[in-house]
Amino acid sequence: MTSYTEKVAPDTKTFKEEILKLKKEKNAVILAHNYQIGEVQDIADFIGDSLELARKASNLDADVIVFCGVDFMAETAAILSPEKTVLLPAADANCPMAEMITAGELRVLKERFPDAAVVCYVNTSAEVKAESYICCTSSNAVKIVESLDEDQIIFVPDKNLGSYVARFTDKQIMPWEGFCFVHDRITPEDVINARKLHPDAEVLVHPECRAEVVDLADHVYSTSGMIKHVCESGNKEFIIGTEVGIIHRMNKDCPDKSCYPLSPNAICITMKRTDLHKVLRSLETLTPEMTVPKDVADKARLAIRRMLDIK
Ligand code: 13P
Ligand code: SF4
Repeated sequence: MTSYTEKVAPDTKTFKEEILKLKKEKNAVILAHNYQIGEVQDIADFIGDSLELARKASNLDADVIVFCGVDFMAETAAILSPEKTVLLPAADANCPMAEMITAGELRVLKERFPDAAVVCYVNTSAEVKAESYICCTSSNAVKIVESLDEDQIIFVPDKNLGSYVARFTDKQIMPWEGFCFVHDRITPEDVINARKLHPDAEVLVHPECRAEVVDLADHVYSTSGMIKHVCESGNKEFIIGTEVGIIHRMNKDCPDKSCYPLSPNAICITMKRTDLHKVLRSLETLTPEMTVPKDVADKARLAIRRMLDIK
């Protein structure tokens, strides 16, 4: 029998109907990050930032989680719910920043600074999480660092998020030299030009942006923090300094507001590798499945749980 996904180019509506049907049959839940393409966001049961998605993944009544995002997000879900089948529909949806530090490199750093606490951004591999005391995301990084007793903090892998956190704490932050290519390429000139084009707009940027871009912004938020701000603000216009996929959700959630990308080049190509066809194929075949070896998952879970315990 020909599988549904082998048929020639069914339309979006047909894809959606098949996905909904299979989702029910397999008792699956679809989670999507705010950067996913519009069609994928539209079929998701829950859309969010990294922290919201991790919390959701830890607390779901389902047999299957279809994670429309990148590898470290699906890994985190698999670590938190080892009894569930976690699918990453685009097997090659990796996060280049997460690959900028290895567990071996972190071990060397820990040996050099034995009194420092290790905070890892959730954008890391399971092996790096397993070597860390606690995780953080862009929405809770300052709170997580402030919750620790140690004065020295090894902060991996994002140097920009590390330097943002350093603005709000007296602790010594020792950032790794990693970065997100999507946010790090946004320049102060981009902000100046966008303000010229939209003089009444507020500028919101993500803390993965460079310090000199953060300096020029009106507000700094995680992706869901930006959406909340846009919806609740009395202002009408916003310049959005993060990955462009977020504009879809802003237009949907707050249609009375105008949101302009700070840089049209802020595109995370790996976030765009998931589409409806891959989601459908993934539900049909229950592949590609994300698994994490038990010894690594057991250690990494401690770091993730410590983060989730801090409200
Ligand atoms: P948040 O959605 O947690 O702000 O993170 C952005 C990001 O880069 C995810 O890869
Ligand atoms: Fe990684 Fe940056 Fe893409 Fe987020 S936007 S998945 S941090 S490369």
